[in-house]
Amino acid sequence: AALAGCARPVDGPGTGELLASDLPPPERFRTPLPIPPVARPVKVTADADHYLVTQRVANVELIPGIKTPIWGYDGVFPGPTFRGRRGRRMVVTVRNELPVPTSTHLHGGVTPAESDGFPTDLILPAGYSPAPPGHHSASGKHHDTTRDYTYPMTQRAATLWYHDHRMDFTGPQVWRGLAGMFLVTDEVEDALPLPRDDRDLPLMICDRSFAADGSLKYPQRDMTHPGADGLFHAGIFGDVVLVNGAPWPRAEVPAVRHRLRLVNGSNARRYRLSFSAGTITQIGSDAGLLTTPLPREDVLLAPGERCDVIADFTGLPAGTEVTVTNTLGEGPTGDVMRFVITGPAADTSSVPSRLSSVETIDRSRAVTERQFDFRFGQGRWTINNQPYDPAASLCAPRLGTVELWRFTSDFHHPVHVHMAHFQVLSRGASGPDPADAGWKDTVDVRPYETVQVLVDFTGHRGRYMLHCHNLEHEDMAMMANFDIV
Ligand code: C2O
Ligand code: CU
Repeated sequence: AALAGCARPVDGPGTGELLASDLPPPERFRTPLPIPPVARPVKVTADADHYLVTQRVANVELIPGIKTPIWGYDGVFPGPTFRGRRGRRMVVTVRNELPVPTSTHLHGGVTPAESDGFPTDLILPAGYSPAPPGHHSASGKHHDTTRDYTYPMTQRAATLWYHDHRMDFTGPQVWRGLAGMFLVTDEVEDALPLPRDDRDLPLMICDRSFAADGSLKYPQRDMTHPGADGLFHAGIFGDVVLVNGAPWPRAEVPAVRHRLRLVNGSNARRYRLSFSAGTITQIGSDAGLLTTPLPREDVLLAPGERCDVIADFTGLPAGTEVTVTNTLGEGPTGDVMRFVITGPAADTSSVPSRLSSVETIDRSRAVTERQFDFRFGQGRWTINNQPYDPAASLCAPRLGTVELWRFTSDFHHPVHVHMAHFQVLSRGASGPDPADAGWKDTVDVRPYETVQVLVDFTGHRGRYMLHCHNLEHEDMAMMANFDIV
């Protein structure tokens, strides 16, 4: 019944079920908007900036006055924001002090396969008994309690994010806090008069539910008998909306332009964000700046997607409340956050009519076409009727080529491709939606809809994956590998 009820409305909250909190909901628009700390390099060498991040248990105050145990990168949620620069290599050492294995994926990163955070390429918990001699992970590296991820940073300026990717456990591990922002900049972006510094706000939106003791509530799952506990794992919706880890926060801002880097870090929930005052102009999507700015009525974000917008509050009188609502939510999940205008201020920023040069890939460049069908079957979520097999690969695109990939679906599935970015060619019978503009790495595939994308396999050779970014679907086998050769 849950299956039939949850996904039919094409513009609904996605595929999932509401998990109700046992804690009374905190007051909306009260908690100040937190900004995650920026990661600082621990070592700068001639050819790279080196960072160290420790995954650990921490007790943090997400809801005012209540302690919540989280699993956080450096013990915070969201994790520290990384700032990378095109042309400058980064090496991020991740140390695991959690009680469980982890794997860290840079979502949207053009990353060599051995640093991509493959789901079976695990960092073991510190203090865990070491793997037996000769035991190797998928990449051939020894299991260890720390891991160096190398990011060449050859890509354009973009709003990326990083999160846990452990096989079968991504949903619960991200839910507990293992996610953060990763911003890449470059000279093209530097030259633009866009809002900067404290007017450039990373906003990670995700829904969570809380148990009576203040802990994050997530269903116990039996992976061998999915659904055996009576919950059909369509996806988990929380009833508290967090922005940068704070429930329905409030930000006091001057009446000027702000750049908002919107990230949907939710496990399963889709949002359609609407602003009660000011104007919204999209300047970037998943993988970087658009060619030209796009005025938007609202912003649709499926799990994993990003949208980079300029919110223009110019001229709004002091005291104006700009409420960001989610028109796909109900009750409390229909609210997201609020900006409160403090008053006028100097503003030298502007939105140039040309942002970057994005070449539109022509369909004729596709050397082959492939279809991937995202569907529920045999008690699991499958791609082309196959549950995930870490040892198998569905296809082998050639490095440097373009392929046309066709995604079909039974329910809402946000489809994410690792390493290779794509452009949306069509959605259903029509062209792309406004939300499909620019270079993408995640696309919102809606029930019984076919989405065609042109995938550019520029970057690195090796084994990568595509999967549904509804994290419960991902954990229930809706993933597949491909090999770039
Ligand atoms: Cu954001 Cu494979 O994931
Ligand atoms: Cu899915």
